[in-house]
Amino acid sequence: MKDPIKGFSKLSKAAKLEWLVNNNFDHPEAARDIFTTYWHADAALQQRHDEFIENTISNYYMPYGVAPNFKINGKLYTIPMAIEESSVVAAAAKSAGFWMDRGGFTAEVLSTEKIGHVHFMYEGDATPFFEDFDALEKELRAATAELVANMEARGGGISQITVVDATDRLENYYQLEVIFETCDSMGANFINSNLEEMAKSLEQFAAQHPKLSGDKLEVVMRILSNYTPKCLVRASVSCPVEELASEGVSAEEFARKFKRAVDIANAEPYRATTHNKGIMNGIDAVIIATGNDFRAVEAACHTHASRSGSYKSLTGCSVENGIFTFWIEIPLSLGVVGGLTKLHPLVVRSLEMLGKPNAEELMGIVAVSGLAQNFAALRALVTTGIQKGHMKMHLMNILTQLEATPEEKIQVANFFKDKVPHHREVVNYFCALRGVPVPKVEK
Ligand code: HMG
Repeated sequence: MKDPIKGFSKLSKAAKLEWLVNNNFDHPEAARDIFTTYWHADAALQQRHDEFIENTISNYYMPYGVAPNFKINGKLYTIPMAIEESSVVAAAAKSAGFWMDRGGFTAEVLSTEKIGHVHFMYEGDATPFFEDFDALEKELRAATAELVANMEARGGGISQITVVDATDRLENYYQLEVIFETCDSMGANFINSNLEEMAKSLEQFAAQHPKLSGDKLEVVMRILSNYTPKCLVRASVSCPVEELASEGVSAEEFARKFKRAVDIANAEPYRATTHNKGIMNGIDAVIIATGNDFRAVEAACHTHASRSGSYKSLTGCSVENGIFTFWIEIPLSLGVVGGLTKLHPLVVRSLEMLGKPNAEELMGIVAVSGLAQNFAALRALVTTGIQKGHMKMHLMNILTQLEATPEEKIQVANFFKDKVPHHREVVNYFCALRGVPVPKVEK
């Protein structure tokens, strides 16, 4: 058992690293080397990264790839993707090329409202909150007038405030539910600051109201919700069925099987989870590359997938009158200002690569990337199987693990050009090539 440390956060970066390597590694020198190898050569840039989070001792690199040829609403994009998994970028690029030849993607923002709550308990008759709501709202708006002034100047602000009786879910539980319009920002800080002011104002209202009591009210939390069902975007592709022939499968069979695959994801949560994971491959990669919050987006999308009471597909498919249509409709609360957007040099470049989109345009791009990813995965699944393409892309990782030389990598890649490079077969072939015994499988 290691000794705990007090005051770690107050140590310098160098002292943190020393404590870490000397107390957590068998070979401190080797560990220190790796952590410092990943420091940026530009000290100012490194300091910027250090300050993004706390107790930073190194940087964790993620590959940054690009998928060209995305035609969305008639405009051509190259989409930046930060992700560690092989075959995701290739799959996105392949889908982009496929749909570019069939009219491209359409994206439409359906709504842009964000939501936040003051969660409070009231142990008594709460009717006056509802009956005197106009007076309460006036006070809440007055309390936040200064905070919302700039957002209002940009065309946003607070759209709606309501009191919600949630006592059917939890005894004495009420909410102030507030709808926000945050323009080009994700708006988390803006929303939370407003909610904190509103909570104070709510307490004052209860304390001063003749029929309420400040003592009976307890504000528990003031926080935005990452579930944004009213910040929705829809993206779709469509083409005549006869244009779908793929990987040796006829167009009609492809369309039928593809729709079946979506139907299965809607009927079976085990499949829906993997199906949606594939969608998030595309979404998260763009979210990370553009400096947005992938945890918030993940949480919102999974809640959305469960909104019927059962976990379902985030995409839909129809084959009607000879037309194949495939779409995604998801909540995406994104920002192109604030957060890391001006701080991380690669995020700045990502947004520039996308033509400096506003938040709504970025919602469309991200939704398209999820749809494209799902199209590629389902296309592989209902035709060749996923392993053929995925393992083809993963082959280099296997060979790197085997410490293959560049020449050996080329030889092995050539051998597996027209075969599925399953892990064991790659190891066997590689060992035969080197003339060494195949390593035993460790328990
Ligand atoms: P392919 O047909 O062998 O590729 O597909 P190709 O060599 O004929 O090239 C066609 C195009 O694909 C290229 O056009 C590229 O756009 C792209 P070009 O640039 O030549 O004009 N492409 C590449 N882009 C960059 N680097 C590459 C590359 N290779 C092709 N090296 C491919 C190969 C992997 C694209 C295809 O098999 C595929 O889309 N497979 C699906 C892969 C996938 O979905 N991966 C996600 C990870 S698996 C997973 O986690 C999710 C899953 O479980 C979800 C689910 O179950 O629903 C599957």
